Amino acid sequence: MDTNAVIDNVTAFAPGRANLIGEHTDYNDGLALPFAIEDGVTVEATALGEPRIAAEAVDLDERDEFELDDPDRSSGWKSFVRGIAAELQSAGYEVPGAELRMTGSVPRGAGLSSSAALEVALALALLALAGGAEPDRLELAKLCSKVEREWVGAQTGLLDQIASLFGERDRALRIDFRTLDVRPVALELGAFKLVTLDSGEHHDIATSGYNQRREECAEACRELGIESLRDATLEQAAALPEPLDRRVTHVLTENTRVEEAVAALERGDLEAIGGLLDASHASLRDCYEVSTEAVESAWRRLHDAGALGARIVGGGFGGNVIGLMPPDAAIPKGALEIAPGDGARVVS
Ligand code: GLA
Repeated sequence: MDTNAVIDNVTAFAPGRANLIGEHTDYNDGLALPFAIEDGVTVEATALGEPRIAAEAVDLDERDEFELDDPDRSSGWKSFVRGIAAELQSAGYEVPGAELRMTGSVPRGAGLSSSAALEVALALALLALAGGAEPDRLELAKLCSKVEREWVGAQTGLLDQIASLFGERDRALRIDFRTLDVRPVALELGAFKLVTLDSGEHHDIATSGYNQRREECAEACRELGIESLRDATLEQAAALPEPLDRRVTHVLTENTRVEEAVAALERGDLEAIGGLLDASHASLRDCYEVSTEAVESAWRRLHDAGALGARIVGGGFGGNVIGLMPPDAAIPKGALEIAPGDGARVVS
């Protein structure tokens, strides 16, 4: 008898993330300052004893089934399950046949990374069910991001997966995407509050302008003869043709804003964070052009409610706006208070 095969049921949880600042910098070898949120995706995995996956998206009341040796392509949430099962196997991990029940509390398509939460929770559940040691979390982040690129068609970077896997309570994470150095930075809000407000416009990264923005950055690199925009200067950016000049300007100034935000948090200057959020938003709207009418109206609502600063969060083209509320301001109607929570984990 195989004495390793004693686990027959596990539950894993992975949080979504908010990004305090540093948007569209991850795939440009830049800097970002995200944090894991309390909401996320829970995956319960039960051993099946045969090499197939039977998955249920409980909130959607939808099911999927496939053989582990032939996961084949699909669409929607099914692509994530099939992609994770396939990529774990091709990376050499054992993936046991399993019944998977998925439930989520992160709104889908709202810029809070329900996708990464799903990928990470699936991977942790399947790996725990197999009973092996947990792999290196950076390797896991890369594997999950590969699923998004190659199975879902969204050419995303590593921001969401690293935030979900490395999140810590009461801390944001300063991530350097060139070195993949992840440094927790205390995010002590005191009586201040961070909120997100849904613009009501939902986005799908694979079909929004996201991939086009990524291609524009690659084109700017080709024009400048550099490997990544981390090596570009503002002078070089200004000499590029429209709209590449503005795209690169956004990425470079956003990296600087991340460093300024880290410094502001370290000296406890939340007022300065407000100004940086507004500056980031203006750059995302005017230079990177990922805002929309609905997002602008959510941004104005946060300011009308007294926000010290606010900005679009995530890929853009809809989704959520994050705002920093001072102690005396009430949380605007419809907004959700968020705070840095723990990273992904096997719960039982
Ligand atoms: C999405 C992607 C991330 C990142 C952000 C923009 O959330 O999944 O990789 O590029 O957009 O900062």
